[in-house]
This record gives sequence, C-alpha cells and structure tokens, in this order.
Amino acid sequence: MEIEVIYHSVAAEGLTEETILDLVTKAQAFNKTMGITGCLLYYKKEFVQALEGDESSVNTLLSKIKQDPRHNEIHVLFKGKCEKRSYANWNMAYDALSNSDIKKLESVIGINDFGALHNLKDSPSRVKKIFSFLSKELENEND
Ligand SMILES: Cc1cc2nc3c(=O)[nH]c(=O)nc-3n(C[C@H](O)[C@H](O)[C@H](O)COP(=O)(O)O)c2cc1C
Repeated sequence: MEIEVIYHSVAAEGLTEETILDLVTKAQAFNKTMGITGCLLYYKKEFVQALEGDESSVNTLLSKIKQDPRHNEIHVLFKGKCEKRSYANWNMAYDALSNSDIKKLESVIGINDFGALHNLKDSPSRVKKIFSFLSKELENEND
C-alpha cells in the first residue's frame, strides 16, 4: 500500500540555507532509489514536508527524519492512504516561500504561517488541502 505523510517541524538554531540545499540534494538521491516522492517547503525557520510512497519505505524514512538534529518539534499533521500521488514527478521538490507566497496563502485559505498549520493537526483533510494548494503554487512558479 502507498501512503502519504505531511509533517511540520521547526528548523534547528543556526540552520543555513546552504545546509538545507545540501540536505535536499541528498534527499532527492535517496528518495529516488526508494521510489519516494514529495515536497519540502520552508518559511521563517519552519518546515512542512509531504512524503509519498510505499508504506514501509515512507515509515522508515520518517523515523530517520524524526531523529535528525537539523530540526525539532516534528509533528505529523496528516498520514493516510495515497490513492494517487500528488508529487509523482518530484523526488523532493524544495522551495523557500516568500512573503508574497504567504500573502496569497492568507487570502485564499486564511492562514499566514506554517505554525498555523500545526494548529490544524486535528483537521488532517484541511492540512492536505492547504498543502496541495501550496505545492501547486510552487509548480506554477516553476512552469
Ligand atoms: C526537514 C528535513 C527533511 C528531510 N527530508 C528527507 C527526505 O525526503 N529524504 C531523505 O533521504 N532524507 C531527508 N532528510 C534527511 C534525513 O533526516 C537523514 O539525514 C537522511 O535520511 C540520511 O540518514 P542516514 O545518514 O541515517 O542514512 C530530511 C531532513 C530534514 C531536517
């Protein structure tokens, strides 16, 4: 069975853009070998990441990610069966969101930071909708 996981976390103190880009390059290579796809978004020291793929591969990766000292306060906001992959073409898309991306988010779905997503951990379907909106924006930007 394939699953999708979306989590929110807070970057470790002093984490640089360079470290993040290095992490993403390695993540893309690993995810490719495991058939995992997904999207990592970063804004004001917070991460939101979606991972999709075979249940055991995603769970194994998630346990590694949870132990990574480059971020803290990792909270899974959505975990469920993945009927159809949303990021099939991306082993790990990455974007650091701008203030204008977040403004758009605020006007469309009424949240203005990732911390607000964290507060939605009891509404997983809403989290999934918001994350798909965010990642679609990213896809449009890259067109
Ligand atoms: C925010 C964040 C997202 C990450 N996403 C991935 C990922 O999608 N794939 C991956 O292989 N590693 C990812 N990592 C890195 C893993 O935590 C870990 O360093 C990597 O899997 C190598 O683990 P290993 O050295 O134990 O093999 C991420 C780390 C952070 C902090």
